Amino acid sequence: NVNAKIVLLPGDGIGPEVTEEGRKILVEVAEKFGHKFEFESHPIGGNAIDDFGDPLPEATLNACRNADGILLGAVGGPKWDDPTAKTRPEAGLLKIRKELGLFANLRPITTHEFLLDSSPLRREIVEGTDIFFVRELTGGIYFGDSNLEQNADGSETATSTMVYSTHEIERVVRVAAKAAQGRSGHLTSVDKANVLEASRLWRKVAERVVREEFPDLKYDVVLVDAMAMHLISRPSTFDVVVTGNMFGDILTDEGSMLPGSMGLLPSASLGSDGPGLYEPIHGSAPDIAGLGIANPLATILAAAMLLRHSLNLDDEAKAIEAAVDAVLSAGHRTKDLAKDGEVSLGTIEMGQKVIEALNS
Ligand code: NAD
Ligand code: IPM
Ligand code: MN
Repeated sequence: NVNAKIVLLPGDGIGPEVTEEGRKILVEVAEKFGHKFEFESHPIGGNAIDDFGDPLPEATLNACRNADGILLGAVGGPKWDDPTAKTRPEAGLLKIRKELGLFANLRPITTHEFLLDSSPLRREIVEGTDIFFVRELTGGIYFGDSNLEQNADGSETATSTMVYSTHEIERVVRVAAKAAQGRSGHLTSVDKANVLEASRLWRKVAERVVREEFPDLKYDVVLVDAMAMHLISRPSTFDVVVTGNMFGDILTDEGSMLPGSMGLLPSASLGSDGPGLYEPIHGSAPDIAGLGIANPLATILAAAMLLRHSLNLDDEAKAIEAAVDAVLSAGHRTKDLAKDGEVSLGTIEMGQKVIEALNS
């Protein structure tokens, strides 16, 4: 039996709504499997700026450092979107990833027979898709030098720099290559090496790591613009995909439409030690915040990833995943996945269905 301290970071918008459903499923798992999970909730994002003037208060960061796993909802929203503000909710999220050294962001994209008609793409395209994205999370253009300068003529010049070093590329490629070994043995690296120096280094280092350490993998490289196309024309031909921070951000939002909704995709952010951070890939969805209609499944599946990767509870993780599959295959849908005119469940009702399936 496991005793674990889990920090909840509900955040903004629909963040608190979906995090609550993630918490409930963890409570249920603890009960069913005889574990003891202790929960602590802490501010992050826009609400933390409002209350503490800081999107990542020191107390939140300290609680996270002492946790066994962290479950985050989402941060951000129009209230904090002023481009001249001195900080932003998103800065809190970037800082926690950096401070905890969470360089590998795992974003599985899986389709199932019972979801094939939820995708805007034709079923024969989506069928069989099972992609494991590994997105580099603490480097690249998100963390390079950035600057805003005033020019003499009153105009401004802004700079954001994409930076990658050998070590940063090696470690994330190793994570992806190991994942590929445990799957069908196919790894694809995505870059923009025809234009960017940072991508040329990425390509060179990735190729060397795979050749020297993982020679049995089937390995290919694809340029990011072409990848955006292949992802919707032949998604089922990919297995593990490794890429940099910004490319991974964009391609996984695109990829979420293969199963049919952003509300389905969880992620795990892992470092070489210390607690992992688990979150849905979606944001705070200001357009539906407070309506009680957000899909909680991405967060519930993120809770499953927390059990698997941070607590080593693979059976428990599988039990949650099986419960989610059962609920979806029974035809239950939140509004994001429902067809026109189809009855849809609210956030809490969907969470409840998963709990019932877990216990049945
Ligand atoms: P978003 O992901 O919040 O929403 C995009 C669209 O998807 C919206 O129409 C939204 O209603 C829908 N959607 C998202 N999650 C859903 C769910 N669980 N159920 C049903 N529908 C869902 O992206 P955005 O609108 O571009 O960004 C809004 C804010 O969220 C911004 O401030 C952005 O910075 C922030 N954001 C935060 C995170 C995070 O905290 N990890 C991730 C992405 C965006
Ligand atoms: C995500 C989000 C974040 C990112 C933002 C909110 C900083 O889009 O987690 O995908 O770009 O990493
Ligand atoms: Mn994103």
